[in-house]
Amino acid sequence: MSKVLVTGGAGFIGSHTCVELLDAGYEIVVLDNLSNASEVALERVREITGKDLKFYEADIRDRAALSDIFDKEDISSVIHFAGLKAVGESVEKPWEYYENNISGSLILFDVMRQHGCKNIIFSSSSTVYGTPAEVPVTEDTPKGMCTNPYGWTKWMLEQILCDMGAADPDWNIILLRYFNPIGAHKSGRMGEDPSGRPNNLMPYITQVAVGKLPELGVFGDDYDTPDGTGVRDYIHVVDLAQGHVKALSKIEEGCGTKVYNLGTGKGYSVLEIIHNFEEATGVKIPYTIKPRRAGDIAANYADASRAAQELGWTAANGIREMCEDSWRWQKNNPDGYGK
Ligand code: NAD
Ligand code: UFG
Repeated sequence: MSKVLVTGGAGFIGSHTCVELLDAGYEIVVLDNLSNASEVALERVREITGKDLKFYEADIRDRAALSDIFDKEDISSVIHFAGLKAVGESVEKPWEYYENNISGSLILFDVMRQHGCKNIIFSSSSTVYGTPAEVPVTEDTPKGMCTNPYGWTKWMLEQILCDMGAADPDWNIILLRYFNPIGAHKSGRMGEDPSGRPNNLMPYITQVAVGKLPELGVFGDDYDTPDGTGVRDYIHVVDLAQGHVKALSKIEEGCGTKVYNLGTGKGYSVLEIIHNFEEATGVKIPYTIKPRRAGDIAANYADASRAAQELGWTAANGIREMCEDSWRWQKNNPDGYGK
């Protein structure tokens, strides 16, 4: 059986996707440079599924290493998660973000085509919509002006892939625009393990809950939203992972170039997330209102109906499961994978 190469497969979304791929019967090869991940995550994938995977510690910018993997393994499709993703850091280190994400991806795409592998699922982001004029956003909502270099790398890589797909009909390309992935595997053995102080809301909340941080800062309560705090479309990481399995079936049908929002279609404010977390876990989250965070938008949530119609995918988990599962992971693994 031909195999699926998962770049960045040791990371948060990648490791959860590995579980779903193995459970669906795929053979997988993982490539990760471990710049933001631990190999322990892959041990947990093996533990949860009772199945094996092949791991290469390698960098997508290393053409020779990539070619070697494609020479050795019979790769039919690639799910491309590998990349740097910290919004704030990308403002400080734009060159590093463009070099890692864009140069690395260009090398990957080139090695793929040289080996006759033209099937790819790319991790994009709702950040490509910039500040949307209207919510919910559909895939036809125009892409916007990004507010940081990280966002531009997603925006540009989408364009590069679309142009490649238009020039060569042998390519099957699916761009998945994720909304806000949170939650963790139900086992409590796998989850998000941010380096240093978390930038994102849910890992910050769970670290407050476990006593590693004193309180949460809520970035702004004067947005044009029902309670004034930012509204986002939080999606359980296991639902997101299952979306990749559905997308892979679509690729195997020969789909050309496609783009899908992966979200739940429902927006929650920061205060609603705090209250839902407290209700689901019984743990109180102290917080104070802080000024707005630069680059943030008021509200963003998905119209995910295209993924429902064309992929047969909808998110199964609600906000309660997302909170319970994030907390189970953090409580059982206060230091994450110990990376
Ligand atoms: P993550 O940091 O946990 O996973 C990314 C993985 O890529 C890490 O394991 C890292 O070690 C690896 N990596 C980075 N650069 C590499 C390189 N040059 N060569 C090989 N491996 C490399 O992040 P995640 O949250 O799992 O995100 C996965 C993908 O989804 C990323 O492309 C990210 O931009 C995208 N995305 C994430 C979110 C989110 O909120 N988590 C939202 C939208 C899109
Ligand atoms: N927030 C706080 N306090 C915090 C952290 C976040 O109030 O300590 C607020 C933010 O202001 C925002 C909401 O919580 O209103 C969500 O913030 P996150 O940082 O969790 O998520 P973002 O929507 O800002 O961005 C995330 C990823 C991006 C990705 C985007 C869409 O960081 O990379 O989701 O997928 F592009």
